Amino acid sequence: MTVLGIIGGTGIDQLEGLEIVDNHAVETPYGDPSRVLQEGRLGSTRLFFLQRHGSPRAIPPHLINYRANLWALRSLGVSDVVAINAVGGISAAMRPGRLVIPDQLIDYTWGREHTVDTGEHDTLMHIDFTEPYDRALRQRLLAIASEQAIAHEPAAVHGVKQGPRLETAAEIRRMANDGCDLVGMTGMPEASLARELGLAYASVCMVVNAAAGLDDAPLTLDAMRATLQREAAVVSQLLGALAAT
Ligand code: HPA
Repeated sequence: MTVLGIIGGTGIDQLEGLEIVDNHAVETPYGDPSRVLQEGRLGSTRLFFLQRHGSPRAIPPHLINYRANLWALRSLGVSDVVAINAVGGISAAMRPGRLVIPDQLIDYTWGREHTVDTGEHDTLMHIDFTEPYDRALRQRLLAIASEQAIAHEPAAVHGVKQGPRLETAAEIRRMANDGCDLVGMTGMPEASLARELGLAYASVCMVVNAAAGLDDAPLTLDAMRATLQREAAVVSQLLGALAAT
């Protein structure tokens, strides 16, 4: 049976229409998750929701306990995780306001606890990461977005940077040369840890700004938040329809 877990990013503190039925403070071998995990009902579907930046204080991307978050979701019986990420747009189609379901990623992060392979087990965790997002879960998201007439980009390369600072214009030019369409800070090691833990994982990205140097407008958090707010409603619609299937 599929049990859905949603990891909310910046701007997604709550899922519209989610009726909370329980809160779970989960202890994990890796320490505490970002916050208590909320168990709720969206329509008739039971699911779990976790805000990766915590609450009320925001945990920056490089300090998020990704291992604890995913371990906690799995321990509650979650099988499929949809992660929501706010990102900058690099390639022309990835304009602010766009919803994107990426199919590939490039990991530029460093110094994060990125594996549950502690070296103490008999087998090494050389997971196959050729396709970093779960194919079936991505297809479900794409089908639902089309059914619901939600405008979206059906594929993209998500470049994941360390943050918390934004990038230089030259860094974005290099990422474009590398083939990145999007730039974010929280997509890794979340995606690979999910694979290590046997969870199906896919991402829904909300483009909230043009990446550094691609637009004359200054990069301000206020402008990003305004775009986020508009996109959050569409993401909720997508997740609501996903939960109903
Ligand atoms: N860069 C990195 N992460 C981001 C951005 C960006 O421009 N916008 C939202 N998250």
